[in-house]
Amino acid sequence: MEVIEVQTRSRNYPVYIGQGILNNPALWSRLLENRRFLIVSNETVAPLYLDALTKALPGDTHEQIILPDGEQYKTLEQWQRVTDKLAAMKAGRDTCIIALGGGVIGDLAGFAAASWMRGIDIIQIPTTLLAQVDASVGGKTGINHSAGKNLLGAFHQPHTVIIDCDTLHTLPDREYRAGLAEVIKYGAIGDSHFFDWLEQQASSLNARMPESIMQAVIKSVNAKAAVVAADELEQGQRALLNFGHTFAHAIETATEYKQWLHGEAVAIGMVLAARLSTRLGLDSGDSEQRLSRLCAVLGLPGTDSELPTAADLINNMCLDKKNLGGEYRFILLKSIGQALIHTQVSDTDLYAVLRQ
Ligand SMILES: NC(=O)c1ccc[n+]([C@@H]2O[C@H](COP(=O)([O-])OP(=O)(O)OC[C@H]3O[C@@H](n4cnc5c(N)ncnc54)[C@H](O)[C@@H]3O)[C@@H](O)[C@H]2O)c1
Repeated sequence: MEVIEVQTRSRNYPVYIGQGILNNPALWSRLLENRRFLIVSNETVAPLYLDALTKALPGDTHEQIILPDGEQYKTLEQWQRVTDKLAAMKAGRDTCIIALGGGVIGDLAGFAAASWMRGIDIIQIPTTLLAQVDASVGGKTGINHSAGKNLLGAFHQPHTVIIDCDTLHTLPDREYRAGLAEVIKYGAIGDSHFFDWLEQQASSLNARMPESIMQAVIKSVNAKAAVVAADELEQGQRALLNFGHTFAHAIETATEYKQWLHGEAVAIGMVLAARLSTRLGLDSGDSEQRLSRLCAVLGLPGTDSELPTAADLINNMCLDKKNLGGEYRFILLKSIGQALIHTQVSDTDLYAVLRQ
């Protein structure tokens, strides 16, 4: 088992990464501490892993709430259900939430933990690759509002994160590949050796070889931990994690979140961002080609997919621009492994990149 220490101003915490560690007795013996637990999971993940998890918890210490599955349930209504359950348990500060599921459960349970009594502990047990390498670490929690995604939320760092890579065995193929897009992102923005390694390991990752997956998760969590340690509240460097995301959000919004999983949209967005970097003269290398090839080999969609029109995408990016004080804020590349924040982007550049 690997342990990565995440260090932030508000809290330091361990991320345990291993295989079959979901109910590791030695690990849990350190976490019990006479606490009471509320396990929050969903209808898909609970039948797979809830029994295994509860074996690690003494019978009278935990209760559970099982939510419906899906992003459309990351709502105030489901948050209310979780907090009603906390109220029924007479939960106090000794109560700890355990989030067992993907990013939707992690974000919603995290927000319930952040808001109950102004903040109680949460242990994140992420079960999708995306949640393992991204959502579970860093303390962003939240739910959706009818006016937009993740509009209600809080920064609330977890007490502990337990990443059991064995849970990925049951993850549907598309979800697994969508998670790989975020893994590629860490190589692209900050670690060219990791990017090289991903290129070499592509067939092992496609075959879901446990050792390769675990190495990819360890590298990704280390990368995320370093960024979060430097900029917990996203006032600067943490924005680099949004590489590919400006294009991705425009694609997701224009297709009403129906056509692409987030990671798939990020894969397309990263290639477009690399293309924009070349057009603006920031990157004179072959980043676009390498990103495009790696995404394709790992079964992710490319810029040859059927995308919304350039005008539609730019309209959506303009909305982002308004929120950012009238300037685009793109994360672009100098080369694979070196990202920067860039604001000098015109609509002409965007049209050129999107129509290429
Ligand atoms: N907090 C953050 O920093 C952060 C970062 C990135 C994304 N997010 C959020 O995360 C969410 C997306 O997360 P996601 O991609 O994990 O989606 P998800 O939570 O919807 O999970 C995807 C699907 O996989 C199922 N699933 C989960 N684990 C499984 C397993 N082991 N076996 C079989 N099925 C399993 C889920 O039930 C769901 O149907 C979005 O709401 C996004 O806003 C948050």
